[in-house]
Formats: sequence, C-alpha cells, structure tokens
Amino acid sequence: MLRLGLRLDRRLELLGALSYTARDLARRARKRHASLQKTQLMVLTPDFATRPVISFQHVWKRYETGTEALRDINLVVPDGDFMFLVGPSGAGKSTMVRLLIREEKPTKGKIFVDGVELGRMKRRQLPFYRRRIGLVFQDFKLLPNLTVYENVAFALRVHGEPDALIKTRVAEAVDTVGLAGKEQTYPANLSGGEQQRVAIARALVHAPKMIIADEPTGNLDPATAWEIMQLFLRINARGATVVMATHNREIVDLLRRRVVAIDAGQIARDDRSGRYHDDASKSQVRAR
Ligand SMILES: Nc1ncnc2c1ncn2[C@@H]1O[C@H](COP(=O)(O)OP(=O)(O)OP(=O)(O)O)[C@@H](O)[C@H]1O
Ligand SMILES: [Mg+2]
Repeated sequence: MLRLGLRLDRRLELLGALSYTARDLARRARKRHASLQKTQLMVLTPDFATRPVISFQHVWKRYETGTEALRDINLVVPDGDFMFLVGPSGAGKSTMVRLLIREEKPTKGKIFVDGVELGRMKRRQLPFYRRRIGLVFQDFKLLPNLTVYENVAFALRVHGEPDALIKTRVAEAVDTVGLAGKEQTYPANLSGGEQQRVAIARALVHAPKMIIADEPTGNLDPATAWEIMQLFLRINARGATVVMATHNREIVDLLRRRVVAIDAGQIARDDRSGRYHDDASKSQVRAR
C-alpha cells in the first residue's frame, strides 16, 4: 500500500509537473505566435516607422472672394520627410501652409497632422498645436522692440514656462543657429540672414516635430540663403519633418529632395528626388 501510495503521489506530482509544463508551453506558443504576427504586420506595413505626419485628403479651398486656391489636394508627408513646395506665384503654396497651421480651414476635405484632424481642433487647442510646429516666414516676423534672447523666449514666457527652462532652451536654440553672443542684440542691428536665424531659433525652442517654412530664403542673398538651408537640413537630419514653400530654383536643384509642384491649385508633380522645373523625360505625377 505504502509503495502504491508513493507511486500515486509520484504520479500526481509528475502529472502536476507535466500539466505545468503544458501550460507553460501553451503560453510560450501564444507569445511566439503573437510576436510572429507582429513581425508579419511589420513586414506587411513597411511604412510602419514612417507613418504620415501630414495628410491632405481631397482638400479644396475657396476664399470668400470666390478664388478657388486649392482643388482636390491629396498629399501624404511621412515623418522625417524634407519636402519642397514649388510652383508659380498664385499657385496655392501659401494657402497650403495657412491650412496646415490652421490659419484657414479647407472648404472641403480633411487635413490630418500627427493623426489629428485639424478641422476638429478646438480654438483653445490651437496655441498648443502651433507650439508643436515651427513656423518660419519670408519676412522673419520678429518683434522689433525685443532682443534676440527675448524674441526666442517670447512664446515660452507667454506659456508661463519657468525661467530656468527658458534659459536652457533659448541657449540651445540660439547656439544651434550659430548666434551665441548676439542674445542682447535687437533685430534692427542684425543682417537679414541673422534675423532669419533668430526666427529659426524661435521655431526650434519648442523642439517641434515639424518645421513649416514659407519662402524662408526669399529676402536673402544666395550665400546667406544657402547657409539658412544648411540649418534646415541639419534640423531635418535630427528628425524633424520639413515642409518648405520656395521659389529658390538653385537650392531645390542642388538638394534633390522631394519636390511637390503646385499649379493652379492642383498637384502637378510629386518627385521623390526632384528639380524645380519638370524634367520632360519623367512622367508628370509620381505616386509615392
Ligand atoms: N486671403 C485671401 N483672400 C482671397 N484670395 C486669396 C487670399 N490669399 C490668397 N488668395 C488667392 O489664392 C490663390 C493662391 O494664393 P497663394 O498665396 O496660396 O499662392 P502662392 O503659391 O503662395 O503664391 P506666391 O508664390 O506668390 O507666394 C491666388 O489666386 C491668390 O490671389
Ligand atoms: Mg506664397
């Protein structure tokens, strides 16, 4: 009896161990399956790591004057992209920029930025949204009665950030644009290129995910324009998405980045490694 009992105990123990092992194996198998599915998902969606940061979906814009500035724009900008918007005067480039920063709303269609539809954004959310994008314009838009330091610090002060954080962030941004030492200078005493650097530092101070620039080199001589472009390239290399409307043919042709050409409110061309003017040997519109 004793021997049988022992055997029974042993058998139960073994059974227990086995059932534990079976449970364990099942769990491991489930895990393996899940990770396999994940891998397959990543294989099936190679854009996983470059999801769109901007998406225009059938966007139309008609101003109150009746001008149809944009007509059925469809555009996807992946995270980390560097994109030039080119096209003749009046084509609709600045309108696209104004829609992106929610200064204007589309008449029809939707715009998504980082998964959020801009049309659904509440008015009170706008300052937070605009903080996440860095804006750079042709005419710099600096506050003339504030020093370089205070121009860059301005938005952080408005948002009530602590002095210590403002100091660090401003120092970093001013350093990135190569203006360390000019903090106490007023805009009127800076060159055009230096003023644009201040504007870029002001955009960078929030560590934005994307930079939207409307003809940032429009008022600069070629050498200065090139220096400013180097800055945008460096910012892009650090991971920010850059969308830039420009008429600067030399720069676009030299850099061979993505070029989206707008003509009469429509996308006429979308080239991955494009030029300012259409290369006649290439097809007009290229799907990305
Ligand atoms: N606020 C506005 N009200 C009415 N019409 C406008 C307004 N802003 C722009 N437009 C018109 O919309 C069209 C597109 O203008 P937009 O400023 O987007 O062109 P653009 O491509 O930026 O030109 P540019 O290269 O000269 O800057 C033009 O016909 C312009 O006259
Ligand atoms: Mg414009």
